[in-house]
Amino acid sequence: AKKEWLEVTYEKVDGMKFTVKGKEGDNLLDIAVNNDLDLEGFGACEGTLACSTCHLIFKKEDFDLIEEPCTDEELDMLDLAYGLTDTSRLGCQVCLTKKLKGMTVKVPEGTADARSM
Ligand code: FES
Repeated sequence: AKKEWLEVTYEKVDGMKFTVKGKEGDNLLDIAVNNDLDLEGFGACEGTLACSTCHLIFKKEDFDLIEEPCTDEELDMLDLAYGLTDTSRLGCQVCLTKKLKGMTVKVPEGTADARSM
């Protein structure tokens, strides 16, 4: 089946929202990068699970629909993320699916790059 373009909104703490389209199956880091989103420091390790700057906070209902399980490696990185919540994931580890279409994810203020700690 042909992959669909799906809408997703990134919301910064200052209330600024970016609604963009990403291809089904692309991860939330790639979608932010491909759309040139102005998110300072986001995705510093380019999705290699070596930072935690791609930390995103999901609404509970969306969080429960994420298909990718959170691995130990991701959890270790998340532990270092600034402002960790119960519905936090790393954007580079979560792919956009039809079920998640139209969701809004929050981009936390401040990023912690694990590589500089
Ligand atoms: Fe570094 Fe996701 S971009 S862990």
